[in-house]
Amino acid sequence: MTPAASDSDADPSDRLVAGHIRPEDAGDVSLRPQTFDEFIGQRLACENLRVFVQAARTRGEAMDHVLLHGPPGLGKTTLAQIIARELGVGFRATAGPMIAKAGDLAAILTNLEKGDVLFIDEIHRLNPAIEEVLYPAMEDFQLDLIIGEGPAARSVRIDLKPFTLVGATTRSGLLTTPLRDRFGIPVRLNFYDPEDLEVIVRRGAGKLGMDLTADGAAEIARRSRGTPRVAGRLLRRVRDFGAVAGRARVDRVATDAALRRLEVDALGLDAMDRRYLDCIVRHHGGGPVGVETLAAALSEARDTLEEVIEPFLIQQGLIQRTPRGRMVSESGYRHLGLALPPSRAEARQFDLLDDRNDTGDGKGAPS
Ligand SMILES: Nc1ncnc2c1ncn2[C@@H]1O[C@H](COP(=O)(O)OP(=O)(O)OP(=O)(O)O)[C@@H](O)[C@H]1O
Ligand SMILES: [Mg+2]
Repeated sequence: MTPAASDSDADPSDRLVAGHIRPEDAGDVSLRPQTFDEFIGQRLACENLRVFVQAARTRGEAMDHVLLHGPPGLGKTTLAQIIARELGVGFRATAGPMIAKAGDLAAILTNLEKGDVLFIDEIHRLNPAIEEVLYPAMEDFQLDLIIGEGPAARSVRIDLKPFTLVGATTRSGLLTTPLRDRFGIPVRLNFYDPEDLEVIVRRGAGKLGMDLTADGAAEIARRSRGTPRVAGRLLRRVRDFGAVAGRARVDRVATDAALRRLEVDALGLDAMDRRYLDCIVRHHGGGPVGVETLAAALSEARDTLEEVIEPFLIQQGLIQRTPRGRMVSESGYRHLGLALPPSRAEARQFDLLDDRNDTGDGKGAPS
């Protein structure tokens, strides 16, 4: 982790469609699902977690450690809370950058009750010296601490009550291998399909006491960057526009008008996403261009590009990450309403020809 990374996270850009938490999301709490039944989407992950929770409950043991990873706003914190609630145990939450000394971690760990869930958010930002303390705690429920300094220093071993560590990270690639290996249950969260988001938006509208039509909900869902936090945020803004316009019922037309005013386009991209694509297309011939160059050109932290902006653009197939840098794909050009540059269009034709030859050979070859 670079020092710049920690600074940048403090203010992860002021975008309405950023998955990062914003102050106004405090009201989110009312929309936060409380149980697995209320948690929409991520079906496979949820079904598996349910089984592990039930097994741990039946055995009366602490559940194995869980690592939740995926882009911001997909429900990592929510799932961690649900796990604790469904296990029927206590929930303690902290975050990697908040644990400054081994003693801080020791204080948290020794205060846990048997079976409790300790949630460490942004676990990739744990200080390496503290990670060392965490290893034996996770593996053997023991703490090895050095007390005192110099010749008087001695090491003490403290037994901990068995607990479940739930770690969350937007960047599992930054986790050290020894730490990653100590999680028995790694869970990857993916962007939500519009169908799941639509259910989330409809429930959210219900909780907010808002009269939103089915097609209005679908419109918000489609334009929420596959992210429930964004869906909740857009829902509130659409409600505001509706209220100010004096509409009792918010339909697709009203939703579309509100989202346009918020500069959220048909795919859910906002001005920042478009600026990113535009920068590659206009100043770097469509790419490939290195991420550092892009970060400098856009005055954004590299981390923000990699954690917040790029995952969704990649998932939508608008950009590609290549060893030589980022490239805008053909559909990226199409989304911007631009034609593929002649050199790229030509290269593509060659690719197509190659493909055709391959299949031709394959068919003719004896098996
Ligand atoms: N499956 C879901 N169904 C309904 N709402 C959801 C779901 N998942 C998340 N949300 C909503 O989205 C918001 C963001 O979720 P959460 O805080 O758990 O995300 P996160 O992955 O922890 O994000 P970050 O990486 O920024 O910490 C929550 O307030 C919650 O209301
Ligand atoms: Mg979170």
